[in-house]
Amino acid sequence: MKTPIRVAVTGAAGQIGYALVFRIASGQVFGPDQPVILHFVEIPPALGALDGVHMELDDCAFPTLAGVVKADTDHLNDGFRDCNFVLCVGSVPRGKGMERGDLIKINGPIFTNTGKAIQEAAASDVRVVVVGNPCNTNCLIAMNNAKDVPSDRWYAMTMLDQNRATSQLANKAGVAVADVQNMTIWGNHSATQYPDFFNAKIGGKAATDVISDHDWLKGDFISTVQKRGAAIIEARGASSAASAANALIDNVKAIVTPTPAGETFSAAVCSDGSYGVDEGLISSFPLTSDGKTWKIAQGFDHNEFAKAKLDATVAELRGERETVADLL
Ligand code: NAD
Ligand code: LMR
Repeated sequence: MKTPIRVAVTGAAGQIGYALVFRIASGQVFGPDQPVILHFVEIPPALGALDGVHMELDDCAFPTLAGVVKADTDHLNDGFRDCNFVLCVGSVPRGKGMERGDLIKINGPIFTNTGKAIQEAAASDVRVVVVGNPCNTNCLIAMNNAKDVPSDRWYAMTMLDQNRATSQLANKAGVAVADVQNMTIWGNHSATQYPDFFNAKIGGKAATDVISDHDWLKGDFISTVQKRGAAIIEARGASSAASAANALIDNVKAIVTPTPAGETFSAAVCSDGSYGVDEGLISSFPLTSDGKTWKIAQGFDHNEFAKAKLDATVAELRGERETVADLL
């Protein structure tokens, strides 16, 4: 039997957790031959609900689930011990009328202890994906509190934005989502993000050649993707959960699978200064993976329109970094 992969999920009793952990346990992420041990981390008041999730997992009798470890947030090291992946979902979601950045003072402090415990207890090959908002800056906080964990191990999730943008383009062009490639999200997972239709391809052609309505691309397309999270909160009374869990699964798969030639995926990673993004910021880029680490894909052209969008989202990330300077 293969050595099990240990995957920690914080906030496992929450909405996203409930849509996520059964899919990881079932083998959908790491494959049907790869055993997984799930590590659940929750705040003490949620431990009862977490027991319920655990009972339901047992009742699924997944052959790939090789064990469950539960820990509360007072014992983070137990939760993250020897974990190869830490999926940081646990945090407070925004409500109607809020921006994700409004959560920075509530959720930011969670990520100091998270970073420290990952450094102390996780496996030497640990990879971390931050989902809890504002995810770019929460990831920055965790990474800066775990200086011994290499900077290429840290991701904040913009795959949900990529999936949203891909669907919008496919619907407009009347093609299957699989025909859309290189749909990159740049910058922050926020209302300033830049969904880069100029470099996206549809059926191998430039999206701007396939979709002639450029006013839509520059206007409604971008704002629909930027504001989709808020639209879901307005409609559902709660933030996206199934689509967020699905995107997290896509994100982890994109990390562990070598990226096919010519393709890219979006995630926010520690900038090396590429495309003029300040070094050290956690900003979304087009990435390729070799199954272990990522590279920022080079050669994406940015015209004046795109440069202005990228500048705006990077400026917001800089501002968020200043706001949490005491946590870094
Ligand atoms: P939720 O309230 O349903 O669940 C959050 C869970 O986290 C709860 O069970 C809660 O007990 C737990 N929790 C709270 N503080 C914690 C801590 N310090 N450590 C561990 N667990 C803790 O919320 P949700 O809908 O699952 O959303 C979780 C987060 O994900 C929110 O911040 C939300 O904004 C964010 N989110 C991000 C994306 C993205 O694309 N990056 C998408 C959707 C949601
Ligand atoms: C999303 O994009 O759906 C999440 O970040 C939740 C939110 O607050 O919008």
